[in-house]
Amino acid sequence: MLVKVCTGKTCGSRFSSYILKRLLSEKAKYDYKNISTIEGCGCQGNCKTWPVIVIDDILTDRMDPIKASNLYLEKLKKL
Ligand code: FES
Repeated sequence: MLVKVCTGKTCGSRFSSYILKRLLSEKAKYDYKNISTIEGCGCQGNCKTWPVIVIDDILTDRMDPIKASNLYLEKLKKL
């Protein structure tokens, strides 16, 4: 599973770094099999509904660290 957190200018100004930090922390705790990759990425062209994350090419907007974490863990469980 590839998780990208937009760290572009608009999302970055809306604290996407906290989302990235939280997801990396969740990965360290729960991704025992090392089956996910979490990384920052540039603008995804969806700045009006910041901040956004992309999981396996599916974009989800209006994220916050808790929502992103829940979504990530839910998908991780299904793998
Ligand atoms: S800066 Fe995140 S979608 Fe544009």
